[in-house]
Amino acid sequence: MQAIVQSAYGSPDVLHLMEVATPEPADNEVRIKMVATTVTSADVRLRAFDVPAMFWLPARLVMGITRPRKPILGVEFAGTIDAVGKDVTRFKLGDAVFGQHVYGCYAQYKCVPETGAIALKPAAIDFAEAAGVPFGGLTALHFLRKAGIAAGQSVLIYGASGAVGTAAVQLAKHFGATVTAVASAANGDLLRSLGADVVIDYAATDCTQGSARYDIVMDTVGKLSFARARAVMQPVSRYVPLVMQPADIAHMLRSALTGGQKVVAGTSGDSQADLDYLAGLIAAGQYRPVIDRHYRFDEIQAAHAYVDTGRKKGAVVVLI
Ligand SMILES: NC(=O)c1ccc[n+]([C@@H]2O[C@H](COP(=O)([O-])OP(=O)(O)OC[C@H]3O[C@@H](n4cnc5c(N)ncnc54)[C@H](OP(=O)(O)O)[C@@H]3O)[C@@H](O)[C@H]2O)c1
Repeated sequence: MQAIVQSAYGSPDVLHLMEVATPEPADNEVRIKMVATTVTSADVRLRAFDVPAMFWLPARLVMGITRPRKPILGVEFAGTIDAVGKDVTRFKLGDAVFGQHVYGCYAQYKCVPETGAIALKPAAIDFAEAAGVPFGGLTALHFLRKAGIAAGQSVLIYGASGAVGTAAVQLAKHFGATVTAVASAANGDLLRSLGADVVIDYAATDCTQGSARYDIVMDTVGKLSFARARAVMQPVSRYVPLVMQPADIAHMLRSALTGGQKVVAGTSGDSQADLDYLAGLIAAGQYRPVIDRHYRFDEIQAAHAYVDTGRKKGAVVVLI
């Protein structure tokens, strides 16, 4: 099969379209004939080995010292099942599916465990749209729930126009919250169309200086801090940094021991139940993936260069 193989850490030109062995599913796995994948913010950080200095050595030990140990990037997939392991009971040949599995999705075939984050594709969306659901959707759902999202709350989403942000705006509205979305002015209409009640242009207004108070402040881009966010938090609010700063870790440990404002952080998992939940919302017309651009498989370097700008809206899809 053809796959995009990463030859080293670095700029997008370390990615090459190559012939590699087609994977065979294990007993508990299905094999997906891929139609679409995406370039996520995580993919470009893994490609460039963009990790905080304090994690440099442990990350290299895990990921590969001089070059990536797992050289095929890609975490989101959409396609049809073309082979099943002998113990598989949840899926069958020909099922149209989508999901998330770390590494290996920049390929014509991808094997995943049937108990992983894989779900039947809702008929309401095509494969390209389906590939753009899991990364942002699962992350936003996980952290909003972890922060105790509830109807009637007021939620601030900082960095609302990316994959996680566009998902968080829609899910917070779904859970009955009032949503304030912070993004550049160019993305205001998009965020209003997703349900945001208030949109703040971060270039014109400092969202931490207003009189509004929020029950949850989610920062998807690492541009706020707990210290700044506290100015607009209630006494028992939750601060959710998706890009953890060293200071956030100290605040998280301290706030876990005390009452009052808390820092809610960590990593989101690959939950099949959560993916089924998102698929149900899509089928009911209550959630839609935001797709920015489409690229061909052989345009992967251009797709990475675009995501490297840090300005994509929702997901960037690669058609295989
Ligand atoms: N902890 C976890 O488990 C977990 C899981 C998934 C993702 N993450 C992390 O979450 C982060 C967000 O991921 P993502 O995929 O949503 O990113 P993304 O799609 O690449 O985010 C792009 C968006 O960021 C916005 N942005 C850039 N600079 C900004 C600024 N100064 N202020 C406000 N918005 C700004 C841009 O909006 P404008 O063009 O409007 O500026 C753009 O729409 C990543 O760092 C990722 O690693 C963490």
